[in-house]
Amino acid sequence: MSLSDFNKATAISDGQEAKKAGYKVPFGTVSITDKARALIDTALTTKWVTKGAYVAEFESKFAALFGVKYGIAVSSGTDADAIACAVLYDFGAKRGDEVIIPALTFVATGNAVLQAGLKPVFVDVSRETLNIDPDKIEAVITPRTRAIMPVHLMGKPAEMDKIMAIAKKHRLHVIEDAAEAHGAEYKGQKIGSIGDMACFSLYAAHIVTTIEGGMIITNNEQMAEAARSLRNHGIDGKFRFKRIGFSAKMNEIEAAVGLGNLEIFHDILEKRRRNVRYLIKQFARFEKYFWYLNEDGHEVLGPHAFSMILKPGLNFTKDEFVSYLEKEGVDSRNLFYSIPTQTPSYEFMGYKLGDFPETEYCSDNGTHIGCHQDIEIAQCDYAVDVVANFLKSKGY
Ligand SMILES: Cc1ncc(COP(=O)(O)O)c(C=O)c1O
Repeated sequence: MSLSDFNKATAISDGQEAKKAGYKVPFGTVSITDKARALIDTALTTKWVTKGAYVAEFESKFAALFGVKYGIAVSSGTDADAIACAVLYDFGAKRGDEVIIPALTFVATGNAVLQAGLKPVFVDVSRETLNIDPDKIEAVITPRTRAIMPVHLMGKPAEMDKIMAIAKKHRLHVIEDAAEAHGAEYKGQKIGSIGDMACFSLYAAHIVTTIEGGMIITNNEQMAEAARSLRNHGIDGKFRFKRIGFSAKMNEIEAAVGLGNLEIFHDILEKRRRNVRYLIKQFARFEKYFWYLNEDGHEVLGPHAFSMILKPGLNFTKDEFVSYLEKEGVDSRNLFYSIPTQTPSYEFMGYKLGDFPETEYCSDNGTHIGCHQDIEIAQCDYAVDVVANFLKSKGY
């Protein structure tokens, strides 16, 4: 396949991506298997399309993959986060209580806490890991703190030992936002099986996808039961409503796509790991210029994308770098924003620029590119060449 043909095979087809056709290294992809097509066909033929047997099978197979007892499928990763937060009401939380989250994450993490009627309290990240800095967590714990929600950004595990120890000391729950980290491992434990609950996004471009969708997993039966009720308007028995719930059920068509993905989960993961490890190796020669995603000895990545952060003192800006990538057909995304200080919808919370210096630095200087299962080594090489040529054009 020639480089110019790659994008045809790999571009994902949602509205946002369709506009971006033409990339030599596209950001995302979606795998629709023959099994998924067959299941969708059956669902459409029998007209059983709302939550049913496929959703139940998908939930139990997904949970089993992570060695956890219960899976609760929902409409999105954001709903998964919000419902997991709302489960805390069954465990003593009151409206307005606090959930600690990293300042650097997709805005959905903060929105979900607010949508559940709780207050997000932000903590800065470490620029080397992109994850919440555990040494800064205890300073923001108050009598109203109910949970810590670490995010495993880019599929790199947060420092769970320290986070779990803090949670235990202060009797807090831990909700893992594993939206971007399907299959990651931390010190031999599967990400998603360490906290009280974990939330996954199954949006297109994520490792397991249902196109739109999310999943909560837990070993706690009471939490699973509350989450099942919350995704269905807070229902308790037949048409009685005990909780302030969400309308967030998954349907059979989405579950069919998910079941197809689970069959190739390990292949997807291995391909992504191969790509990201290859990029890490190639980027060693750019070490003077970037911090980039790395994989430490105690962890295994569940790669979502490959992040790059410009080091200080370079003679170019992130915008110049990103424009060059774009011009050369390497699709990229900003490394998110500091939710509390660089996101207009959060101005009401009263934080000020400078409160989260590491996060703001990552946002101002960071980007990420695809490393998904439809990217071949030749495309990784192409991306590396583009970066090298850009640096050369700047005299490096
Ligand atoms: C860290 C994180 N949390 C939550 C979400 C929300 O997931 P969704 O887009 O499925 O609602 C995402 C989405 O990519 C994410 O990256």
